Parts: sequence; structure tokens; C-alpha cells
Amino acid sequence: MDLLEALNTRTMVRDFLDKSLREEEKQLILESAIRAPTAGGNEQWYFIAVESKENIEKLYRLLVEAQRLYFNKMVKVPWSKDQIEKWEKKVETGLYRAPFYVAVFTDLRSRFYTRADVEERWAEQSAAAAIENMLLTAHGMGIGGCWFGVPLLMEDRFYDLFKVNRDEMRLVAVLAFGYPKQKQPPRQRKKGLREVVRSL
Ligand SMILES: Cc1cc2nc3c(=O)[nH]c(=O)nc-3n(C[C@H](O)[C@H](O)[C@H](O)COP(=O)(O)O)c2cc1C
Repeated sequence: MDLLEALNTRTMVRDFLDKSLREEEKQLILESAIRAPTAGGNEQWYFIAVESKENIEKLYRLLVEAQRLYFNKMVKVPWSKDQIEKWEKKVETGLYRAPFYVAVFTDLRSRFYTRADVEERWAEQSAAAAIENMLLTAHGMGIGGCWFGVPLLMEDRFYDLFKVNRDEMRLVAVLAFGYPKQKQPPRQRKKGLREVVRSL
């Protein structure tokens, strides 16, 4: 698959087959993360590959809890009882359950700049670039991925699971990877280019 095709066909996958990824596939995904652009060449990122059955199960449960919090508390118009019930049925049949997860952090143990606020934003942007690299690499190999931001709604529980000190590393996202249960078309955009681009 060439790069443009990968960009144009990628979409978030949340429903995975119960099939492990091969070691080489996991390695290629992780290697693509550190090929991303990184502010100042400083590589202030850190990744935890979650592979053991026990930790996968713990992380999956936390993700479902965080996602529930999102529907109930984060969105301005909370989901209705009906919508939640439909979602719960999908969760029961395996939604979000993946054979491989990667937690992405900014690593702020070494500092390089005089402005901590800007440095942290740059580190986060670098981590986001690493995330997109991983999603595209996975997609290129026929592996689906999902970017989870909801862990930020209950961060402490995730830091406990990952055994990470939040003063040193800050959670950016959790990614899920696996073979898609179904082939999915890319999601349409609501806004066209004309709405989001202005020439100057
Ligand atoms: C910062 C960020 C956080 C996201 N968090 C979640 C999440 O917690 N749960 C989820 O199911 N999808 C999450 N997504 C995926 C988006 O919902 C998805 O990218 C969007 O609907 C567009 O769909 P597409 O990526 O398939 O084109 C997140 C995406 C981004 C960029």
C-alpha cells in the first residue's frame, strides 16, 4: 500500500479479532513511532507495550470505564439510556478488546528549554506524530488501531496500572491494535476543505 492510499483509507478500528499480532508486526509498529518528527530532536516520548494477558485485561477494563465516563460526563449532551445500552451490548461482544495496546507518554525527565509550557506542548505534539505513524504503519499491514484519549478523564488509575510517576512522564493516549473484525470504510469528514482552509 502506498502512503497516499494508507492516509486515505485509514480509519479507527475498535472491534478486533481474537488473534495475536506477530512479534515482527509489533516491532514494526513501535519502530515507526520513533521515526516521527520530534521537537528539537529531543525524543521526549516513552511507550509502554502492553502484552501480558493480565495487563491487557486490566487495561481493557479501565478503557471501558473511561469510555463510559466520556459518554456520561464529558460530552455536553450525555448519551441517552438507549444509546448506552446499545454501546454496552457492543462492549459485551468485544468492542475495545485488543491483543496489543501501547500507552504513549511524554517523557519529561530531561528538560532542554527555558519555557516549560512550550516544551510540554512540543513534547505532546511529537508524541501525537508518533501515534499517527503507528496507526498508519499498522494499517499498512492490515492491522487496525484506535487512539484512546479517554484515559485522561481518569488519569490516576492509568498511572497506577502503568506504574509511572506522573511528574516524570505524562500520559498522552492509549492505542489499541489488532486485526479488524470487519473491513471498514474511512469515515467521512463533516467539514470540507473550504471550511477549514483559508488562503492568505
Ligand atoms: C486526540 C484523540 C483522542 C481520541 N480518543 C478516542 C477515544 O477515547 N475513544 C475512541 O473510541 N476514539 C477516540 N479517537 C478517535 C476519533 O473518534 C476518530 O479519529 C474520529 O472519529 C475520526 O474518525 P477516523 O479516525 O476513523 O477518521 C480519538 C482521536 C484523537 C485524535
